[in-house]
Amino acid sequence: MQNTQDQDRQWSRHAARYDELFLDALDPSVENPLWAALDAVADPQSRTVADLGCGTGPLLPRLVGRFGRVVALDFAPAMIARARTRIDDSHADTVTFETRAMHDLDDYAGQFDVVVAINSLVMPDVREIDRTLRAIRASLRPGGQFLGVLPSMDAIHYHTMLLMDQALDRGLEIEEAERSAAFHAEHQYYEFAFGRFQFLGLRQKFWQPFEIRHRMAKAGFTSVELGQVLYPWDESMAGGTDFADHPRSWDWSFVARP
Ligand SMILES: C[S@@+](CC[C@H](N)C(=O)[O-])C[C@H]1O[C@@H](n2cnc3c(N)ncnc32)[C@H](O)[C@@H]1O
Repeated sequence: MQNTQDQDRQWSRHAARYDELFLDALDPSVENPLWAALDAVADPQSRTVADLGCGTGPLLPRLVGRFGRVVALDFAPAMIARARTRIDDSHADTVTFETRAMHDLDDYAGQFDVVVAINSLVMPDVREIDRTLRAIRASLRPGGQFLGVLPSMDAIHYHTMLLMDQALDRGLEIEEAERSAAFHAEHQYYEFAFGRFQFLGLRQKFWQPFEIRHRMAKAGFTSVELGQVLYPWDESMAGGTDFADHPRSWDWSFVARP
């Protein structure tokens, strides 16, 4: 629990400058299968959706007004404060804001038709991830679904491979090319074996696709469909504009059902 308390403070600290620091899976330049999955929800006015780890609330304008009821949850008070500003008074009575950790859903058991978590299942302690997935599973109504985006560990390996080839093509020796790729892909912030990323006081889980399937199954989800959220090559990634002819980098999207 000490871990959770430290991380909620750290996330709060980054709320004000969030947009400058983080890749946005919801940006219009990003190809995101989540939109189609959300659009496919039938009869949304009769449904309750939860946005877990809502952050500054970029998804809320797509949910509020369309779904009958929206629960926006984040354990960082400064994130919730920013998310509140996205909602105008005409919809205020359909939205509930919760400042709490997302494993803490007992009072919502069996109440959500759709749960969304966009880059927020990132707790560095896998016990907390498992506990949270079980809580989400229990929060779903029969027929409900859990969808979201998870930071991809294998995309960092992919970026490293492209940087490595680029350095070799420039004539570097193998050791120099490895050093250069590791530097530009910022390997000092990653623990590759355990799938973690530590930066500016935040410790975040990064996912491999087999771990998504494994942990979802362990938490009682019987079906998991994976997809890729595709990011445009741009200056936010080292060498990005040079890689325009290669397949894009990604995070994992998923739709999971009990
Ligand atoms: C990378 S941000 C993503 C925010 C938002 N979903 C978006 O797409 O912009 C991760 C968010 O998850 C929240 N978060 C992380 N772990 C959490 C937990 N255990 N309980 C509740 N919120 C959590 C953080 O406070 C942060 O706002």
